[in-house]
Amino acid sequence: MSSANADYADARAVFTPPWRSLAGQLVLWFVGASFLLIMAVSTTLYFGVEAQTNWLDDQLLEKRFDTMRSIVSSNAEGQSWIGHEVSEDMEGPRRVFVRLVSADGRAHDETPNMSSLIGIDDFPSAHGLAPNIMRRGSALAADGRHYRVLSARAAAAGPLAPFVTVQIAMDTTLDEVVRRRYRYSLLWIIVASLGLCAVIGHFVVSRAIGPLTRITAATSSVTTMTLDQRLDLTGLPRELHELGAQFNTMLDRLQTAYAGLRHYADDVAHELRTPLNKMLLGAEVALLGANSTEAYRDALEQNMDQCEKLAQLVQRLLFIARADNKQTALVVEPINLHDKLESVRAYFEESAVDLGIDLRVAAPHDVTFEADRGLVQRAIANLVANALSHSSRGGEVVLSGEAVEGDVRIVVTDKGCGIGPEHVAHVFNRFYRADPDRTAGGDRDGMGLGLAITKGIVALHGGTISLQSAPGKGTCVVIVLPRESSTVSARS
Ligand SMILES: Nc1ncnc2c1ncn2[C@@H]1O[C@H](COP(=O)(O)OP(=O)(O)OP(=O)(O)O)[C@@H](O)[C@H]1O
Ligand SMILES: [Mg+2]
Repeated sequence: MSSANADYADARAVFTPPWRSLAGQLVLWFVGASFLLIMAVSTTLYFGVEAQTNWLDDQLLEKRFDTMRSIVSSNAEGQSWIGHEVSEDMEGPRRVFVRLVSADGRAHDETPNMSSLIGIDDFPSAHGLAPNIMRRGSALAADGRHYRVLSARAAAAGPLAPFVTVQIAMDTTLDEVVRRRYRYSLLWIIVASLGLCAVIGHFVVSRAIGPLTRITAATSSVTTMTLDQRLDLTGLPRELHELGAQFNTMLDRLQTAYAGLRHYADDVAHELRTPLNKMLLGAEVALLGANSTEAYRDALEQNMDQCEKLAQLVQRLLFIARADNKQTALVVEPINLHDKLESVRAYFEESAVDLGIDLRVAAPHDVTFEADRGLVQRAIANLVANALSHSSRGGEVVLSGEAVEGDVRIVVTDKGCGIGPEHVAHVFNRFYRADPDRTAGGDRDGMGLGLAITKGIVALHGGTISLQSAPGKGTCVVIVLPRESSTVSARS
């Protein structure tokens, strides 16, 4: 990565938009939900207050309408109060304007100056309404003041008969001022509450995800040198306790796997060192002093033996790596069980005769299974090689096989020296040799890889392998493989 790109990547790593971080998202949700709640409460309160003030104003207007109604329906003497009535309440903040509109739609009487402020059409129309049915509303007058207005028809006597429309307007500018202040107050309360919510949300969320940060820090500090350290689970919330426990279990597995890997690397180094040292020593001895051609030839031959051993070791290690890899492609084909065992027997026949060991096959001819021919041959051959090399002259090795439900069972039995119970659990480990004393100087110079390879092959085929042995009595190794290739891939 170029340095410019690296800088850009660093900058991106440092700055994370809030909606991309868990804490940011939680705070945003918290603030958003609080906003909706505060808005709902504030709006309800505001409209509640507005409805309440309107209701109070309407009570006053209705009272005034009742007075006007009784005046217009009275006789001429009573109607003489009209002029007085429409001019009342002209002072003060809550001025009241009254207008009587005759049937022809013209103002019969009205409060002085009323027309210049609120026209007839500024009132809700009472046209066609039944008498005493009131229509209410709000209006903005020409002087910029707010009015609560009411219009209704009333039965009238005298010149106004039969009906007159009464229009009453009350100055409610003070109410509007109060409402405006209330709106501003609510706005400030909303803004302050949201700020407070954001602070509280941030505090709460930071506390809640604090343990997550702890786990993240612990994860990022894991190196091969710190595989023995574990996450402290005390104080972790219930939801994260499980995560922490799983993290520690994963570290357990990693530690075990890493220890195994180191052990394996040590073993490989050890196995490589022995033949290399032998070659070095042989070459040094050959170079010391004047030797005969024969002596040089011997030295070269010994070196070749060691080279062969090294090549064999490398080849087996590669084979193990292949058998260990679950992605290894198997060339699966139908195999006749008897033929397979017979071909292994034939391969070892000469050695068995030399060793004076009876090598036999006992399997039905009609059993077939699907597997990788070469790998299966190798797996069984490893077992037979072990059986032969651990049997004495006059002993016997039997290669038996049978079909058991959907599997084939291949058993290699010998009556050789057997394996001590303390070794049985380890013989499938790489480089494990149960009889190091005898192999060290003897003719059986095993590498301890045969059974590990066989186990890997069996696992690749989705099968199982087990070994039973009794010291002095012999050993029996059982391989169980699925008969059909579909089962092979499913199980492996
Ligand atoms: N049939 C057997 N009888 C007695 N001991 C056995 C038998 N098979 C395996 N073992 C013991 O198990 C060990 C591991 O066997 P494995 O085949 O993995 O290695 P090896 O035979 O020593 O070497 P390699 O197979 O790599 O040449 C052997 O060293 C041997 O001690
Ligand atoms: Mg072996």
